Amino acid sequence: MIILKNINKTFNKDKNPLVLFNNLNLTIDTNKFIAIVGRSGSGKSTLLNLIGSIEKPDSGEIIINDINITKLNDKELSKYRNEQIGYIFQSFFLEPSLSAIDNVSMPLAIRGIPLNERENIAKEILNKLGILEKAYEKTDKLSGGEKQRVCIARALITNPSIILADEPTGQLDYETGQEILKILRNIVDEGKTVLLVTHNQEDANNYADKILRIKDGKFISILGEL
Ligand SMILES: Nc1ncnc2c1ncn2[C@@H]1O[C@H](COP(=O)(O)OP(=O)(O)O)[C@@H](O)[C@H]1O
Ligand SMILES: [Mg+2]
Repeated sequence: MIILKNINKTFNKDKNPLVLFNNLNLTIDTNKFIAIVGRSGSGKSTLLNLIGSIEKPDSGEIIINDINITKLNDKELSKYRNEQIGYIFQSFFLEPSLSAIDNVSMPLAIRGIPLNERENIAKEILNKLGILEKAYEKTDKLSGGEKQRVCIARALITNPSIILADEPTGQLDYETGQEILKILRNIVDEGKTVLLVTHNQEDANNYADKILRIKDGKFISILGEL
């Protein structure tokens, strides 16, 4: 379960404060495909960042799979991020000068896993995502859809329980976007949780188990129970 309790989050506290969440309470089931929709600036990315512990709430508690992440110190937080969270972004954030396989195996390199071992794991995932033949290409040579597959592989390599996907199809054409959404759907069917931020209501309807709409810092469910 992902539980947010009495979350307050305000940006620009000194001048022109922007109150994004005022005593937000939200519970999100795991092992589901959750779509989060809402207008630009409504706080969708901030929600993912709070769950991914990239942002901290001003007050309140965030409990992820029984871990109260608001009580963790920085070292424990990076362990939490490393073990539980995989992130996928619209603009990829790949290292363009490195090959696909080096990008994918980077999280394991940081963990100190030996080269041979991490390359074998990376190859297995690249194969599963249908881009093994691109393993030794530099990522700036890849198409948008291939880049996003590399990002998904990189997010999966540490076997996280939660994938946070912030508009991952935003830079892709329709067909390629659908392929990426199908991959995310498969990831959920294999037992993980995907939180997808999307502008596209139809994609949410077609792929998600649950759709949450955010408005004025509050969530309503437009598919499934809140
Ligand atoms: N680090 C930040 N500092 C100041 N304002 C921020 C920061 N992050 C987001 N915001 C503001 O908070 C609001 C919500 O942002 P965001 O969560 O990115 O919305 P969304 O993803 O729904 O478009 C926006 O008005 C944005 O400008
Ligand atoms: Mg956003």
